[in-house]
Amino acid sequence: MANRSRIIVTGGMGFIGSHTAVELSIADYDVILVDDLSNSDISVLEGIKKLCKTEVYFENIDLKNRLACFSIFEKYDNIKGVIHFAAHKAVGESVGNPMKYYDNNINVLLNILYALVNFDIQNLIFSSSCTVYGETKDLPVTEQTEMKETASPYGKTKQMGEAIINDFTVAYPTHNAISLRYFNPIGAHPSAVIGELPLGKPENLMPYITQTAIGLRECLSVFGGDYNTPDGTAIRDYIHVVDLAQAHVVALNRLIHNLNGKSHERFNLGTGKGISVLDVIKSFERTSGVSLNYEITKRRKGDMEAIYADTELSRSVLKWEAKLSLDDMTRTAWQWEQELRKKKE
Ligand code: UFG
Repeated sequence: MANRSRIIVTGGMGFIGSHTAVELSIADYDVILVDDLSNSDISVLEGIKKLCKTEVYFENIDLKNRLACFSIFEKYDNIKGVIHFAAHKAVGESVGNPMKYYDNNINVLLNILYALVNFDIQNLIFSSSCTVYGETKDLPVTEQTEMKETASPYGKTKQMGEAIINDFTVAYPTHNAISLRYFNPIGAHPSAVIGELPLGKPENLMPYITQTAIGLRECLSVFGGDYNTPDGTAIRDYIHVVDLAQAHVVALNRLIHNLNGKSHERFNLGTGKGISVLDVIKSFERTSGVSLNYEITKRRKGDMEAIYADTELSRSVLKWEAKLSLDDMTRTAWQWEQELRKKKE
Protein backbone atom coordinates (compact mmCIF):
# COMPACT_ATOMS: atom_id res chain seq x y z
CA MET A 1 0.00 0.00 0.00
CA ALA A 2 1.46 3.31 -1.00
CA ASN A 3 -0.08 5.60 1.56
CA ARG A 4 0.37 3.86 4.84
CA SER A 5 1.53 6.18 7.64
CA ARG A 6 5.18 5.84 8.55
CA ILE A 7 6.81 6.06 11.95
CA ILE A 8 10.50 6.65 12.54
CA VAL A 9 11.86 4.44 15.31
CA THR A 10 15.32 5.58 16.39
CA GLY A 11 17.25 2.82 18.12
CA GLY A 12 14.84 0.52 16.32
CA MET A 13 17.21 -2.45 16.35
CA GLY A 14 17.49 -2.46 20.14
CA PHE A 15 15.56 -4.45 22.71
CA ILE A 16 12.55 -2.18 23.19
CA GLY A 17 12.78 -0.62 19.71
CA SER A 18 12.52 -3.96 17.92
CA HIS A 19 9.48 -5.06 19.93
CA THR A 20 7.85 -1.67 19.36
CA ALA A 21 8.42 -1.96 15.61
CA VAL A 22 6.41 -5.19 15.62
CA GLU A 23 3.54 -3.62 17.57
CA LEU A 24 3.53 -0.63 15.19
CA SER A 25 3.19 -3.01 12.30
CA ILE A 26 0.24 -4.74 13.98
CA ALA A 27 -1.30 -1.25 14.26
CA ASP A 28 -0.79 -0.91 10.47
CA TYR A 29 2.12 1.52 10.42
CA ASP A 30 5.16 1.19 8.20
CA VAL A 31 8.32 1.52 10.26
CA ILE A 32 11.60 3.24 9.51
CA LEU A 33 14.23 1.83 11.83
CA VAL A 34 17.21 4.12 12.38
CA ASP A 35 20.13 2.64 14.25
CA ASP A 36 23.93 2.87 14.13
CA LEU A 37 24.24 -0.72 15.39
CA SER A 38 26.53 0.46 18.21
CA ASN A 39 24.66 -1.73 20.67
CA SER A 40 22.69 -4.04 18.41
CA ASP A 41 23.18 -6.55 15.65
CA ILE A 42 22.05 -6.48 12.02
CA SER A 43 20.56 -9.98 12.47
CA VAL A 44 17.73 -8.36 14.46
CA LEU A 45 16.40 -6.87 11.21
CA GLU A 46 15.56 -10.28 9.82
CA GLY A 47 13.55 -11.10 12.97
CA ILE A 48 11.65 -7.82 12.85
CA LYS A 49 10.83 -8.29 9.16
CA LYS A 50 9.61 -11.80 9.83
CA LEU A 51 7.14 -10.52 12.42
CA CYS A 52 5.98 -7.39 10.56
CA LYS A 53 3.23 -7.42 7.96
CA THR A 54 3.85 -3.81 6.90
CA GLU A 55 6.95 -2.25 5.31
CA VAL A 56 10.13 -2.18 7.36
CA TYR A 57 12.93 0.16 6.25
CA PHE A 58 16.34 0.27 7.87
CA GLU A 59 18.79 3.17 7.92
CA ASN A 60 22.23 2.65 9.43
CA ILE A 61 22.87 6.18 10.60
CA ASP A 62 24.63 7.89 13.48
CA LEU A 63 22.05 10.44 14.57
CA LYS A 64 24.72 12.62 16.19
CA ASN A 65 25.39 13.80 12.65
CA ARG A 66 22.65 16.36 12.01
CA LEU A 67 22.82 16.18 8.22
CA ALA A 68 22.58 12.41 8.30
CA CYS A 69 19.67 12.71 10.71
CA PHE A 70 17.88 15.16 8.41
CA SER A 71 18.51 12.92 5.40
CA ILE A 72 16.00 10.36 6.72
CA PHE A 73 13.28 12.96 7.05
CA GLU A 74 14.06 14.10 3.49
CA LYS A 75 14.03 10.60 2.08
CA TYR A 76 10.65 9.40 3.37
CA ASP A 77 7.25 11.05 3.13
CA ASN A 78 4.11 10.46 5.16
CA ILE A 79 5.97 10.37 8.48
CA LYS A 80 3.42 10.76 11.27
CA GLY A 81 5.71 10.60 14.27
CA VAL A 82 9.01 9.66 15.84
CA ILE A 83 9.59 7.20 18.66
CA HIS A 84 13.00 8.07 20.01
CA PHE A 85 14.86 5.21 21.70
CA ALA A 86 18.39 5.75 20.38
CA ALA A 87 20.58 6.35 23.43
CA HIS A 88 23.36 4.81 25.46
CA LYS A 89 21.89 3.08 28.50
CA ALA A 90 24.55 1.47 30.69
CA VAL A 91 24.33 3.15 34.08
CA GLY A 92 27.79 2.02 35.26
CA GLU A 93 29.55 2.96 32.03
CA SER A 94 28.03 6.43 32.19
CA VAL A 95 29.72 7.10 35.51
CA GLY A 96 33.14 6.29 34.02
CA ASN A 97 32.52 8.02 30.70
CA PRO A 98 30.03 10.86 31.25
CA MET A 99 30.94 12.83 28.10
CA LYS A 100 30.02 9.88 25.91
CA TYR A 101 26.55 9.92 27.48
CA TYR A 102 25.97 13.66 27.32
CA ASP A 103 27.38 13.85 23.79
CA ASN A 104 25.25 11.05 22.42
CA ASN A 105 22.02 11.19 24.41
CA ILE A 106 21.64 14.97 24.36
CA ASN A 107 22.97 15.79 20.88
CA VAL A 108 20.90 13.07 19.23
CA LEU A 109 17.77 14.33 20.97
CA LEU A 110 18.52 17.91 19.83
CA ASN A 111 18.99 16.75 16.24
CA ILE A 112 15.66 14.93 16.36
CA LEU A 113 13.94 18.05 17.74
CA TYR A 114 15.47 20.22 15.00
CA ALA A 115 14.24 17.70 12.45
CA LEU A 116 10.72 17.71 13.89
CA VAL A 117 10.60 21.48 13.44
CA ASN A 118 12.27 21.56 10.02
CA PHE A 119 10.11 18.83 8.56
CA ASP A 120 6.98 19.72 10.53
CA ILE A 121 6.52 16.35 12.22
CA GLN A 122 4.37 16.97 15.26
CA ASN A 123 4.44 13.83 17.35
CA LEU A 124 7.28 12.57 19.51
CA ILE A 125 7.44 9.68 21.96
CA PHE A 126 10.50 9.84 24.22
CA SER A 127 12.10 6.87 25.88
CA SER A 128 12.50 7.95 29.48
CA SER A 129 13.15 5.93 32.60
CA CYS A 130 12.13 5.56 36.22
CA THR A 131 15.70 6.59 36.89
CA VAL A 132 14.45 10.21 36.58
CA TYR A 133 12.98 9.88 40.09
CA GLY A 134 16.47 9.45 41.55
CA GLU A 135 16.91 8.12 45.09
CA THR A 136 13.30 8.39 46.15
CA LYS A 137 11.73 6.80 49.23
CA ASP A 138 8.17 7.69 48.17
CA LEU A 139 6.75 4.38 46.96
CA PRO A 140 5.05 3.67 44.69
CA VAL A 141 6.30 6.56 42.56
CA THR A 142 3.66 8.63 40.82
CA GLU A 143 4.38 10.98 37.94
CA GLN A 144 4.12 13.80 40.51
CA THR A 145 6.78 12.34 42.81
CA GLU A 146 9.53 14.91 43.17
CA MET A 147 12.58 14.10 41.05
CA LYS A 148 15.65 13.71 43.22
CA GLU A 149 19.24 14.00 42.08
CA THR A 150 20.17 10.87 40.16
CA ALA A 151 23.62 9.44 40.68
CA SER A 152 24.47 8.48 37.09
CA PRO A 153 25.13 10.66 34.04
CA TYR A 154 22.82 8.25 32.20
CA GLY A 155 20.00 9.15 34.57
CA LYS A 156 20.80 12.83 34.21
CA THR A 157 20.51 12.58 30.42
CA LYS A 158 16.97 11.25 30.89
CA GLN A 159 16.07 14.05 33.32
CA MET A 160 17.59 16.59 30.92
CA GLY A 161 15.91 14.96 27.96
CA GLU A 162 12.48 15.43 29.51
CA ALA A 163 13.30 19.03 30.46
CA ILE A 164 14.52 19.82 26.93
CA ILE A 165 11.39 18.31 25.42
CA ASN A 166 9.26 20.35 27.79
CA ASP A 167 10.92 23.59 26.71
CA PHE A 168 10.59 22.47 23.09
CA THR A 169 6.82 21.93 23.33
CA VAL A 170 6.43 25.35 24.97
CA ALA A 171 8.40 27.04 22.18
CA TYR A 172 6.70 25.08 19.40
CA PRO A 173 3.06 24.72 20.48
CA THR A 174 2.01 22.71 17.43
CA HIS A 175 4.42 19.95 18.48
CA ASN A 176 3.49 17.37 21.07
CA ALA A 177 5.41 14.80 23.06
CA ILE A 178 4.90 12.00 25.53
CA SER A 179 7.74 10.84 27.76
CA LEU A 180 7.37 7.23 28.86
CA ARG A 181 9.14 6.34 32.08
CA TYR A 182 10.02 2.68 31.92
CA PHE A 183 10.55 0.55 34.97
CA ASN A 184 12.44 -2.72 34.28
CA PRO A 185 11.58 -4.23 30.89
CA ILE A 186 12.40 -7.94 30.54
CA GLY A 187 11.07 -10.94 28.58
CA ALA A 188 10.96 -11.42 24.84
CA HIS A 189 8.52 -11.72 21.96
CA PRO A 190 6.42 -14.91 22.41
CA SER A 191 7.56 -16.11 18.97
CA ALA A 192 11.17 -16.18 20.27
CA VAL A 193 12.15 -14.45 17.00
CA ILE A 194 13.32 -11.25 18.74
CA GLY A 195 14.50 -10.58 22.28
CA GLU A 196 17.24 -8.96 24.31
CA LEU A 197 20.69 -9.15 22.76
CA PRO A 198 23.29 -7.86 25.18
CA LEU A 199 26.75 -7.51 23.65
CA GLY A 200 29.32 -9.09 25.96
CA LYS A 201 28.69 -9.75 29.63
CA PRO A 202 25.19 -8.65 30.61
CA GLU A 203 24.75 -5.88 33.17
CA ASN A 204 21.08 -6.56 33.75
CA LEU A 205 19.45 -9.27 35.76
CA MET A 206 17.31 -11.17 33.24
CA PRO A 207 19.94 -11.81 30.54
CA TYR A 208 22.42 -12.73 33.27
CA ILE A 209 19.97 -15.32 34.57
CA THR A 210 19.30 -16.86 31.14
CA GLN A 211 22.99 -16.87 30.19
CA THR A 212 23.84 -18.59 33.48
CA ALA A 213 21.11 -21.17 32.96
CA ILE A 214 22.34 -21.96 29.45
CA GLY A 215 25.93 -22.35 30.65
CA LEU A 216 27.52 -19.18 29.29
CA ARG A 217 28.08 -17.78 32.80
CA GLU A 218 29.08 -19.81 35.79
CA CYS A 219 27.06 -18.23 38.54
CA LEU A 220 24.62 -15.36 39.01
CA SER A 221 25.61 -12.90 41.72
CA VAL A 222 22.58 -11.60 43.56
CA PHE A 223 23.72 -8.13 44.54
CA GLY A 224 22.80 -7.73 48.19
CA GLY A 225 20.79 -9.90 50.57
CA ASP A 226 20.60 -7.39 53.39
CA TYR A 227 18.16 -4.82 52.02
CA ASN A 228 15.21 -3.82 54.14
CA THR A 229 12.78 -5.86 52.01
CA PRO A 230 10.80 -9.04 52.78
CA ASP A 231 13.51 -11.42 51.47
CA GLY A 232 16.49 -9.05 51.76
CA THR A 233 17.00 -8.61 48.00
CA ALA A 234 16.29 -5.41 46.03
CA ILE A 235 12.87 -4.68 44.61
CA ARG A 236 12.02 -3.51 41.09
CA ASP A 237 8.94 -3.27 38.89
CA TYR A 238 9.58 -5.74 36.06
CA ILE A 239 7.41 -5.32 32.98
CA HIS A 240 7.12 -7.51 29.89
CA VAL A 241 8.72 -5.83 26.89
CA VAL A 242 5.67 -6.60 24.70
CA ASP A 243 3.37 -4.80 27.16
CA LEU A 244 5.84 -1.92 27.13
CA ALA A 245 6.00 -1.87 23.33
CA GLN A 246 2.20 -1.75 23.09
CA ALA A 247 2.14 1.29 25.37
CA HIS A 248 4.22 3.14 22.77
CA VAL A 249 1.59 2.56 20.12
CA VAL A 250 -1.17 3.69 22.48
CA ALA A 251 0.80 6.86 23.32
CA LEU A 252 1.59 7.56 19.68
CA ASN A 253 -2.03 7.17 18.62
CA ARG A 254 -3.01 9.54 21.43
CA LEU A 255 -0.81 12.21 19.85
CA ILE A 256 -1.74 11.45 16.24
CA HIS A 257 -5.46 11.70 17.06
CA ASN A 258 -4.95 14.85 19.19
CA LEU A 259 -6.27 13.20 22.33
CA ASN A 260 -3.47 14.45 24.56
CA GLY A 261 -4.34 16.71 27.48
CA LYS A 262 -1.24 18.89 27.24
CA SER A 263 1.66 19.29 24.89
CA HIS A 264 4.11 17.23 26.96
CA GLU A 265 2.73 14.37 29.02
CA ARG A 266 4.68 11.86 31.12
CA PHE A 267 3.59 8.39 32.12
CA ASN A 268 5.02 5.60 34.24
CA LEU A 269 5.14 2.26 32.48
CA GLY A 270 5.28 -0.57 34.98
CA THR A 271 3.00 -3.21 36.47
CA GLY A 272 2.81 -1.52 39.86
CA LYS A 273 4.13 -4.67 41.56
CA GLY A 274 7.34 -4.69 43.56
CA ILE A 275 9.27 -7.86 42.73
CA SER A 276 12.49 -8.98 44.44
CA VAL A 277 15.54 -10.48 42.75
CA LEU A 278 14.74 -13.81 44.44
CA ASP A 279 11.14 -13.63 43.12
CA VAL A 280 12.55 -13.34 39.57
CA ILE A 281 14.88 -16.30 40.15
CA LYS A 282 12.04 -18.43 41.57
CA SER A 283 9.80 -17.57 38.63
CA PHE A 284 12.60 -18.42 36.22
CA GLU A 285 13.21 -21.80 37.86
CA ARG A 286 9.48 -22.52 37.77
CA THR A 287 8.95 -21.68 34.10
CA SER A 288 12.22 -23.13 32.76
CA GLY A 289 12.57 -26.18 34.99
CA VAL A 290 16.24 -25.26 35.37
CA SER A 291 17.82 -24.95 38.78
CA LEU A 292 19.86 -21.75 38.71
CA ASN A 293 23.37 -21.47 40.13
CA TYR A 294 23.40 -18.26 42.15
CA GLU A 295 24.94 -16.78 45.26
CA ILE A 296 24.15 -13.75 47.34
CA THR A 297 27.03 -11.29 47.17
CA LYS A 298 27.57 -7.72 48.29
CA ARG A 299 25.40 -4.87 47.06
CA ARG A 300 26.15 -3.30 43.68
CA LYS A 301 27.27 0.31 44.00
CA GLY A 302 24.58 2.79 43.06
CA ASP A 303 21.65 0.33 43.31
CA MET A 304 18.47 1.47 45.00
CA GLU A 305 16.75 -0.69 47.57
CA ALA A 306 13.32 -0.57 46.01
CA ILE A 307 11.38 1.19 43.27
CA TYR A 308 8.03 0.43 41.69
CA ALA A 309 5.39 2.39 39.82
CA ASP A 310 2.05 3.86 40.62
CA THR A 311 0.22 2.94 37.42
CA GLU A 312 -3.01 4.88 37.97
CA LEU A 313 -2.26 7.65 35.46
CA SER A 314 -1.36 5.35 32.59
CA ARG A 315 -4.42 3.24 33.36
CA SER A 316 -6.92 6.10 33.59
CA VAL A 317 -5.50 8.50 30.99
CA LEU A 318 -3.62 6.35 28.48
CA LYS A 319 -6.13 3.50 28.95
CA TRP A 320 -3.23 1.10 28.98
CA GLU A 321 -2.10 -1.44 31.51
CA ALA A 322 0.39 -4.28 31.57
CA LYS A 323 -1.26 -7.66 31.06
CA LEU A 324 1.57 -10.18 31.14
CA SER A 325 2.78 -11.86 34.33
CA LEU A 326 6.24 -12.37 35.81
CA ASP A 327 6.06 -16.01 34.67
CA ASP A 328 5.32 -14.80 31.11
CA MET A 329 8.42 -12.63 31.34
CA THR A 330 10.79 -15.34 32.55
CA ARG A 331 9.31 -17.99 30.21
CA THR A 332 9.71 -15.90 27.06
CA ALA A 333 13.18 -14.70 28.09
CA TRP A 334 14.23 -18.35 28.44
CA GLN A 335 12.65 -19.40 25.12
CA TRP A 336 14.52 -16.56 23.42
CA GLU A 337 17.86 -17.48 25.02
CA GLN A 338 17.45 -21.07 23.82
CA GLU A 339 16.59 -19.96 20.27
CA LEU A 340 19.58 -17.64 20.25
CA ARG A 341 22.00 -20.39 21.19
CA LYS A 342 20.52 -22.71 18.55
CA LYS A 343 21.17 -20.00 15.94
CA LYS A 344 24.75 -19.54 17.14
CA GLU A 345 25.60 -23.25 17.07
N1 UFG B 1 21.00 -7.75 39.80
C1 UFG B 1 21.63 -8.82 40.41
N2 UFG B 1 22.58 -9.48 39.70
C2 UFG B 1 22.93 -9.15 38.42
C3 UFG B 1 22.27 -8.07 37.80
C4 UFG B 1 21.31 -7.38 38.53
O1 UFG B 1 21.35 -9.15 41.57
O2 UFG B 1 23.81 -9.78 37.85
C5 UFG B 1 19.97 -7.03 40.55
C6 UFG B 1 20.29 -5.56 40.73
O3 UFG B 1 21.12 -5.38 41.86
C7 UFG B 1 18.90 -4.97 40.86
C8 UFG B 1 18.03 -5.88 39.99
O4 UFG B 1 18.77 -7.08 39.83
O5 UFG B 1 18.47 -5.08 42.19
C9 UFG B 1 17.76 -5.28 38.62
O6 UFG B 1 18.99 -4.89 38.04
P1 UFG B 1 19.12 -4.50 36.51
O7 UFG B 1 20.57 -4.20 36.27
O8 UFG B 1 18.47 -5.52 35.66
O9 UFG B 1 18.25 -3.19 36.39
P2 UFG B 1 18.38 -1.81 37.20
O10 UFG B 1 17.15 -1.71 38.04
O11 UFG B 1 19.66 -1.65 37.87
O12 UFG B 1 18.42 -0.79 36.00
C10 UFG B 1 17.32 -0.56 35.20
C11 UFG B 1 17.74 -0.20 33.78
C12 UFG B 1 18.41 1.14 33.75
C13 UFG B 1 17.59 2.17 34.48
C14 UFG B 1 17.28 1.71 35.86
C15 UFG B 1 16.41 2.68 36.58
O13 UFG B 1 18.63 -1.18 33.27
O14 UFG B 1 18.55 1.53 32.41
O15 UFG B 1 16.60 0.47 35.79
O16 UFG B 1 16.26 2.32 37.93
F1 UFG B 1 18.26 3.34 34.59
